Amino acid sequence: MPVEIVGPVDTNVQDCERILRALPAYFGIEEALLQYLKDIVDMPVFFALLNGKSIGFLAINRHTKLSAEIHVMGVLPEEHRKGVGGALTAAAEQYLKSDGVKILEVKTLGESHPDKNYAGTRKFYLTQDFLPLEEIPDFWGKGLPTLFMVKHL
Ligand SMILES: CC(C)(COP(=O)(O)OP(=O)(O)OC[C@H]1O[C@@H](n2cnc3c(N)ncnc32)[C@H](O)[C@@H]1OP(=O)(O)O)[C@@H](O)C(=O)NCCC(=O)NCCS
Repeated sequence: MPVEIVGPVDTNVQDCERILRALPAYFGIEEALLQYLKDIVDMPVFFALLNGKSIGFLAINRHTKLSAEIHVMGVLPEEHRKGVGGALTAAAEQYLKSDGVKILEVKTLGESHPDKNYAGTRKFYLTQDFLPLEEIPDFWGKGLPTLFMVKHL
């Protein structure tokens, strides 16, 4: 059965938590994970469903009439590299574009940090045509370099 993308829908926080907790190499800081779960309550969310069960999600933070951000996204590890992340991104972009959004942003760990998992995440965003705009050494106040990536929709 093919993966189905639904959204924007109200956040199902339980499903998002299950997916984030399945990705400890990316969301291993408990405080940050709980903050994400709080943040996404009021955000439009897209889910990827396989046999009716959520295997991935993407939450959107709308900044202005013209700009929005992928606040957080994740796909269950066993479903990586099957096109699910790309399908979630495409669905979110289509929705935002039809609502007049021109700039989509995402913030992720910058390349001056040696983490190999986030090197994969940056590659993923590059394949989705995001451009690396700027790295800020300590944007989150946790000593981690933050890369701002942007895409013109
Ligand atoms: C980033 C993430 C959402 C991508 O989801 P995905 O379903 O695996 O992505 P796709 O299958 O659509 O990948 C599309 C392309 O991106 C690139 N890509 C994706 N993950 C990659 C990785 N780990 N390393 C290198 N390239 C990667 C590949 O070119 C891939 O195409 P290919 O498999 O045909 O080579 C997923 O890896 C994930 O959940 N990561 C952990 C959480 C995270 O980093 N979230 C983003 C920060 S908020």
